[in-house]
Amino acid sequence: MDIIIRDNYDEMSRYAAGVIADFIRKKPNCVLGLATGSTPIGTYKELIRMHKEEGLDFSQVVTFNLDEYLGLGIDLDKPYHLDQSYARFMYEELFKHINIRQENTYVPDGLTRDPEKYCQWYEEEIKKAGGIDLQLLGIGGDGHWAFNEPGSSLASRTRVQALNKQTLDDNYESFFKKAGIERDKMPHFAITMGIGTILEARNILMLASGLKKADVVAKCLEGPVTSQITASAIQLHSGGITVVLDRDAASRLNNLDHYLHVEKLKREYGLL
Ligand code: GLP
Repeated sequence: MDIIIRDNYDEMSRYAAGVIADFIRKKPNCVLGLATGSTPIGTYKELIRMHKEEGLDFSQVVTFNLDEYLGLGIDLDKPYHLDQSYARFMYEELFKHINIRQENTYVPDGLTRDPEKYCQWYEEEIKKAGGIDLQLLGIGGDGHWAFNEPGSSLASRTRVQALNKQTLDDNYESFFKKAGIERDKMPHFAITMGIGTILEARNILMLASGLKKADVVAKCLEGPVTSQITASAIQLHSGGITVVLDRDAASRLNNLDHYLHVEKLKREYGLL
């Protein structure tokens, strides 16, 4: 596991975008798993810059998003701040700015009439695409990946999940409040890739920034692997793992000095 610590959010975002851009350059038709939330916005901005200024080419890239609120779907007739769907978030924060083909971008359909069947279909599409080469992830305040709330099986697959109070509070503050939506009117369920699905990605890139995430990052990376902090499943992943943190998010890690030392060493030996 490469644990990379950067001074601030912008540096974290630049590093993460560099990892993704390297994947795309090496394999132009790579399959990316993408995430929503405030954390990856800077990474997407940097990818957009690379596309515009350096010609980073997304024309063959395929993407699968982690999750979507049940009951929400993209509605381009609404202004962005009134459309809380993750599909809209991806469109506004990344897709509309780059040369990706719309038909190559998969975001779970929150408006599906048959969520169970749909979730199976989503899993099959990931398989048909050859599996995910690189999965980008944030971490929720309660330690979740995607919407795998505490208690989700570490072998779980794409499915409907009820959101817990902390997630509802966090996501209300960050995304729903500005639309003037009442707290109890926000969706309480979501379609989410499972932890088992995520662990099948060949590589994982997890980001966290800010003091608010420091405790949960320490639990995820240094605590026991537990379904109570579903992101701790990162410790079970068998492929390439890169965790990029800013100083604040890294500040409660017990082994911080060790990670900084290893990063320096790997750099000296050309391994990073
Ligand atoms: C949501 C998303 C997660 C994301 C988390 C953290 O719950 N489903 O995929 O990692 O929020 O969001 P933020 O980056 O805004 O802290």
